[in-house]
Amino acid sequence: MEKKSSNKGQSAGSGFLFFFAGFAIALIFGWVIFPKILYSVNEQPIKFSHVLEDHAELECENCHFFREDGSYAGIPKLETCIECHEEVQGENPEEKKFVEEYVQKNREIPWLRYQWQPDNVYFSHAAHLKVEEPLPCTTCHRDVKKEKTPPPVRINRLTGYHYSTMKMQVCEDCHAKRGANNACNVCHK
Ligand code: HEC
Ligand code: HEC
Ligand code: HEC
Ligand code: HEC
Ligand code: HEC
Repeated sequence: MEKKSSNKGQSAGSGFLFFFAGFAIALIFGWVIFPKILYSVNEQPIKFSHVLEDHAELECENCHFFREDGSYAGIPKLETCIECHEEVQGENPEEKKFVEEYVQKNREIPWLRYQWQPDNVYFSHAAHLKVEEPLPCTTCHRDVKKEKTPPPVRINRLTGYHYSTMKMQVCEDCHAKRGANNACNVCHK
């Protein structure tokens, strides 16, 4: 009698162990391996530094500004860089590459975007910045003031969404909280 019951205890214990091992494997797959397979890792064509002194001295608006028609210029074009980078200035290999491959060949840099939205979403910077209470850039973007070099852009292989693409839920939650319009056609034209 005694032996039987201790056997029973043992098999329940190993069952628990198997359950636990399976659980751990599923967690590792779900949290560590799957996200790595799911997202491709893409480096920027040029490693532009926001914190390099000569860049950090400039205002954000020198490079990220509104055009006269109210639309947002987004990532700056070469013309914004050329006043300082017509010739290679220093020893930095990234600057040399930038000047020789792009400035001197008059080729725009094919920058990758982090906070990218699919075509069916309408987003306006003016609606969030040219208002009484402008939102800080970091409400929706990474903090570029903390980066020596831009991080890779992670792109979901299945959906094409970028890792930083803001989810509808996040837009809607803030709109609800701040009393902004949440009708479908505000964000989907
Ligand atoms: C006000 C002047 C100024 C402007 C405008 C400017 N830069 Fe620079 N940039 C510099 C200076 C100065 C350096 C340091 C060069 C050295 O001595 O190595 C530098 C360094 C760099 C480097 C190498 C260091 C790094 O950032 O990794 C890159 C790449 C670069 N700039 C790209 C750009 C691009 C792209 C633009 C336009 C969007 C731009 N710069 C606009 C002055 C400027
Ligand atoms: C000298 C020009 C220059 C200045 C000044 C500058 N930026 Fe940028 N910014 C760039 C370039 C070039 C990129 C594209 C490369 C990258 O994403 O790092 C960029 C990209 C960004 C992005 C990523 C957008 C996306 O989703 O792809 C953000 C956010 C940003 N800048 C914020 C800022 C803020 C905030 C400031 C002021 C503190 C600032 N920038 C000042 C040139 C500049
Ligand atoms: C309310 C959220 C929000 C705020 C605040 C915000 N952005 Fe953005 N930003 C976005 C979204 C969303 C996109 C992607 C838009 C798209 O793909 O249509 C974007 C795109 C960008 C881009 C990429 C340009 C491009 O071609 O799409 C830059 C650069 C940028 N923002 C800079 C800034 C800067 C600088 C500030 C602060 C002055 C700022 N943003 C404030 C949400 C925001
Ligand atoms: C952190 C808060 C916040 C986030 C995140 C946010 N918004 Fe907004 N949005 C606002 C506020 C506040 C307003 C109203 C501004 C005003 O009129 O004073 C607004 C206004 C707008 C408008 C103009 C509405 C109108 O009636 O004309 C559009 C379009 C918009 N947002 C789209 C988006 C999209 C798309 C996203 C997500 C990619 C987003 N917003 C994320 C706070 C936010
Ligand atoms: C405040 C902005 C905002 C409003 C309001 C909004 N959406 Fe969206 N919607 C987005 C953004 C941003 C995306 C892309 C990111 C995502 O898929 O989460 C999106 C994506 C979608 C998608 C594609 C989802 C997918 O998984 O492929 C559908 C469908 C959609 N919205 C329907 C609606 C409908 C229906 C309404 C009204 C009930 C609505 N949306 C209101 C911002 C908004």
